[in-house]
Formats: sequence, C-alpha cells, structure tokens
Amino acid sequence: MRNTFSLAILTVTLSISSVFAERTAFEPTKPWPDNNGVHINAHGGGILFHQGLYYWFGEHKTQGRRGNTAQVGVHCYSSTDLYNWKDEAVALHVSDDPESEIVRGCVIERPKVIYNPKTKKFVMWFHLELRGQGYTAARTAVAVSDTVTGPYTYLRSFRPNAGKHPVNVRPRDLRPGAENYFHRDIESGQMARDMTLFVDEGGKAYHIAAAEENYTLHISLLTDDFLDFTGIFSRVLIRMHREAPAICKRNGRYYLLTSGCTGWAPNEASYAVADDIFGPYEPMGNPCRSVNPDNGMGPELTFGGQSTFILPVEGKSDAFIAMFDVWQPRNPIDGTYIWLPIEFDADDRMVIVYREKWDLSVFDPQ
Ligand code: GAL
Repeated sequence: MRNTFSLAILTVTLSISSVFAERTAFEPTKPWPDNNGVHINAHGGGILFHQGLYYWFGEHKTQGRRGNTAQVGVHCYSSTDLYNWKDEAVALHVSDDPESEIVRGCVIERPKVIYNPKTKKFVMWFHLELRGQGYTAARTAVAVSDTVTGPYTYLRSFRPNAGKHPVNVRPRDLRPGAENYFHRDIESGQMARDMTLFVDEGGKAYHIAAAEENYTLHISLLTDDFLDFTGIFSRVLIRMHREAPAICKRNGRYYLLTSGCTGWAPNEASYAVADDIFGPYEPMGNPCRSVNPDNGMGPELTFGGQSTFILPVEGKSDAFIAMFDVWQPRNPIDGTYIWLPIEFDADDRMVIVYREKWDLSVFDPQ
C-alpha cells in the first residue's frame, strides 16, 4: 500500500515537473508551452514590463481558416524571466453583440499595451477590421483597464489624424492625384493597419501604423492620457510599402524595423534609423543573417517570420529582443514565435543572427 502510494506521488510529481519544467533558453520557431503546457497563444504581440513582471499581449488564434478572425480576443501571459510564461487569460474579449465593433468574427491584430503613470490606466491599442469587411476598414482601436491583465474595456475605433497635415508635409502631398492616398484620406482620417506603440523617455507615447494602403507609415503622438491622437504626426518611409513596424531607441537614435507587404507570407525585413522619432528615417537594409534550419529560410525571408515588436530587456543595457511571428494562416493557432537578440556592430548597425537556442547571457559584457 505504502509503495503504491509513494509511486503515485512520484508519478504525479514527475508529470507535473515535466509540464512545468523551467525553461532556461529561447528556442525560436519551436512550440512554446505556457505554465499549463499549452503553446502560447499571443500572436502579433507586444510586451509591457510593469512592477517586476513582463506581460505579453497578443492575438488569440483558433483552429482553421476562421481562426484568422477574432473568435476570442487578446490573450495575456506574464513572466519574470521571459522564458517561462503564465497564462493570465483573455485580457480583451470579443463581443457577442452584433452591434459591437469588436463582435466575434471581426479582425483584431497586433495589440500593444502601455501604462500611463498619470492616470494609472493600462491602455491597449490594436488594428481593427470590422466583421465581414475584409481589410477595408483599416481602423485603429483603443481599450482601457485599471489592472494590467484586464479585462479591458473597449472604447472606440476610428481612422486617425482626420483633417490634419503631418509635421513633414510637402506641397505635393496636398495635391490630389490617383495614388495620393494621404490626400484622399485627409478628411475621413488616415488608414491604420499593422501597428505598434512606443513610449519615449519623458513619457510621450507614439502610435506607429501602416497607412495609405500600406505604402507609408504614420508615426503619431498620442494625448497625455494615451487614449487619443493629438493630430501631431509624421509620414515616414514614404511610399516604401513597409508594414509590421517595431521600434527601439538606442544611444538617442530610433531604429525602426519593418517587413514588406506580402500578407501572411514571409518577405525581407529592413530597418531604418533616425535621430528624431518623426524622422527622417535613413533606410539601412536587412539586419538579418544566417538561416533557420527548421524551415530553410534565410534573411531574404526573415527566417520565415514577420516583425511584431522590439523588447528592451530590463536590467541590461543595450539589450533588445526582436520578436517575429511565424504565421500559419491555414491553422493560425499553430503559429510560432521567433525571438532573437539584436546586436549592434562597431558602426552601430543592427544585426539579427538566427540562433536555434539562446539565452539572455548573450547580453552580458564579454
Ligand atoms: C500581414 C499583416 C498581418 C495581417 C496579414 C493579413 O501583412 O502584417 O498583421 O494583417 O497581413 O493578411
């Protein structure tokens, strides 16, 4: 009896420890189990560091093609070490009300959350497409919460910067023309698709999104409460057809990483550098090096991934992780993640080398 009992305890302990086995490294492209042993479901995500914990917010995907639309909402996970993630459940739920803009079946993409120390609110922005309208709505949307993990309260969606001219406006931008999408959308507000957020030193927050039929990115200053646009914005990488923006600041310079526009299919990443967040951004080419042995894809296809966020590692200087999604549009829940350390060479160029397995010690001084 006693032996059976201890055997049972041993078995339970073994199975728990295999599920909860502490991870001590990143393994890009591989399934990434959370604390319940379930592959993390936070695609197109971004990370907020708050009071000693990292919070990862991303698109909750489901099985089958339908899973490319929002059936659940925005999922949240927390971590102390970036390797091991605890499921914190759904932070923003889709609605069952057919009148709601975030009714189940809409498209909720690339959610990002920032904390406003003045209002003590957590503010989530994301790209919203209205149900049944494909990708034509091209709106940005905002939700808010008093607690980091939510639930977030949905506020509204819109096309930003209506009636406004960018800080870097040129006379030709204001002349109508068949392909002058900026001019076309001045009155109605500008399109906003793939997006990220960035809080600068000093606390100002910026919304960066693919606008103008994905030809040009717009970088917009948010209001002090982070809940609205100020109307102050800049057009960057004009007509370069870039999306999936991710940004970091190093030595006072802004590094803006983007992808090309080929839907779910991977393409070549590139980055651009500026001394001012509003630009001008100098294109610097593709930062990726080496090949992903899991799929044979190299720098010309971003190892099979697409950028979503650049994560500054807390407590380490000059330590940034580039986060990419490996999309699986036929079964989106199977999408995986490629996280890689960003290196800067002697000329301050960004370099992202594929690694099959790595840990945060790469950031320690050599
Ligand atoms: C990509 C974009 C994704 C998603 C997808 C839909 O270009 O980066 O976030 O919108 O298109 O096809």
